Amino acid sequence: MEVIIRPDAEKTAQLAATFIAQKIKEKQKIVLGLATGRTMERIYAILVQMHKNEGLDFSGCHSFNLDEYIGLSAEDPNSYRSYMDYHLFRHVNIDLKNTHVPNGMAQDVHSEGKRYEKEIRKVGGIDLQLLGIGETGHIGFNEPLSALMSRTRDKSLTPHTRQQNAEMFGGDPEKVPSRAMTMGVGTILEARSILLVALGESKASILAKAVEGPITSMISASALQLHSACRILVDEAAASQLSGRQYYDWVFQNEPEYAQYR
Ligand code: F6R
Repeated sequence: MEVIIRPDAEKTAQLAATFIAQKIKEKQKIVLGLATGRTMERIYAILVQMHKNEGLDFSGCHSFNLDEYIGLSAEDPNSYRSYMDYHLFRHVNIDLKNTHVPNGMAQDVHSEGKRYEKEIRKVGGIDLQLLGIGETGHIGFNEPLSALMSRTRDKSLTPHTRQQNAEMFGGDPEKVPSRAMTMGVGTILEARSILLVALGESKASILAKAVEGPITSMISASALQLHSACRILVDEAAASQLSGRQYYDWVFQNEPEYAQYR
């Protein structure tokens, strides 16, 4: 695991977009695992700019979103499919046939989970998984006590997460769906590389526990400590409770692989 701290949210988003763009350029057919939420909005906006201004080519991209609310159709403005269309897909040259979001309207959630996993396998697995982190420590919607080997399935959201996401539902946590389909922690850990982005002080405490605390199913993000190619990219505010930050900064300032990003 490597932790990179940037001075503010904008510089963090710029570097996240740079890492993603680099992956896209590296491989003709690339499989991206995508996240939604406030943290990702600016990152997608920068990727759209890169497409428009520099010709960043999404035609070889396949994508799999982490999660979708159960009970919301793809057309619902609050669905994660709508979010992806709005923030990224409709502005770049990705083939919509190659974009995947779990079906929140599936009658049989068990089969839907299996189908989603099969689709990921069919394209050879995820090359780069993009993640945010929830205040409960969730990645995807893997709330506390999600098995560290879990696969795509339905999951109940905690009251805290419904509160965290209420803003998108007119401020009323009761309007936030109570369940979601989500890739499992085990699904996420199979990605060949992972980039987790966290912004703001509200993430500082949970981020420190996830990165520097023990691995526990109470904090799904702590399972990322097991992954051999995981970058954690955060702004100053989100980094404020990390005890090892002097070392993380030293690595970023001195490792040759980071020279081009400093
Ligand atoms: C979204 C997702 C969630 C979010 C997390 C952070 O697809 O899987 O894990 O990444 O809740 O959300 P924001 O960025 O809104 O703080």
